[in-house]
Amino acid sequence: MGHAEPRPQGRRTTKLAVVGAGSVGATMAYAALMRGAARTVALYDINAAKVEAEALDIGHGIQFMPMADVVGSDDIEVCRDADVVVVTAGAKQKPGQSRLDLAQATVSLVRTMLPQLVEVAPDAIYVMVTNPVDIVTYAALKVSGLPDNQLFGSGTVLDSSRLRYLLHRHTGVAVQNIHAYIAGEHGDSEIPLWSSASIGSVPLTEWPGMIGPDGRTTGRLEPADREKIAEEVVNSAYRIIAGKGATNYAVALAGSRIIEAVLNDENRILPVSSLLQDYRGISDVCLSVPSVVGRQGVQARLEISMSDDELQGLQRSAHALRDVARQFGL
Ligand code: 2OP
Repeated sequence: MGHAEPRPQGRRTTKLAVVGAGSVGATMAYAALMRGAARTVALYDINAAKVEAEALDIGHGIQFMPMADVVGSDDIEVCRDADVVVVTAGAKQKPGQSRLDLAQATVSLVRTMLPQLVEVAPDAIYVMVTNPVDIVTYAALKVSGLPDNQLFGSGTVLDSSRLRYLLHRHTGVAVQNIHAYIAGEHGDSEIPLWSSASIGSVPLTEWPGMIGPDGRTTGRLEPADREKIAEEVVNSAYRIIAGKGATNYAVALAGSRIIEAVLNDENRILPVSSLLQDYRGISDVCLSVPSVVGRQGVQARLEISMSDDELQGLQRSAHALRDVARQFGL
């Protein structure tokens, strides 16, 4: 398939470029189209046969989606003038491997790829998804020289949605009424911010469960339940990778949610991974804290209240990530 058609004169349309047509990239393109996130989705991968096949397969379903186009190419020109570039290309986590184990391969990829992308899409907002996402985001910022609002990582948006899903299953309350974030590394050292979480307007740590018509209380949340849920969130990806080789659906939906926050200038609070400077004593490292995401990318970070344990956990996560970054000369 060829390049994206030039945009009709005088009409502003939105263009999303997805870099990498593996299971995450292709599903991301599909999810973004299904949700009507962008008018044009350009899929780019160095494997011509694969990227063309994915774009064709998705394109054949365009009739059943909101108004959109999809193009796929092994020529980076397909990304030209994108409004948002989502980077999913990189090595795949094998069963048992941690996200940080992938750092070597993905950091070199970022070094070669980012300058080429910035050349064709200098004004795009960049969303890094490739793992280890915090390290990749930090490397991409250094290599590209882009302002730190313009380039950030999908971070713990997915982990937070896993947390909310599990809390929903445990308490029986709709996932939309559960407000809880995971912060820190998107990986083994991540931490749930329990002390600021709420269900409806009830602080989560005081959640008493719900009294049914028979007078019985269900869905109580004890400290041991919280611990089990937090553990399950951290182990989610390992479990899915062991079962099916990769995670793709929820990460694609989380990515699409971030893209929509940017393209619709929503000022949505999302725990994306961005460069922290003097945030709770943490500087010069990319990790996730609840942040305001809009058309300029990461527009602000929330000074969310944290317990001492949470703050120490966040600082530990920062140390772990900084150590890895140093190993790669970043
Ligand atoms: C995930 O958490 C592997 O980072 C990927 O699903």
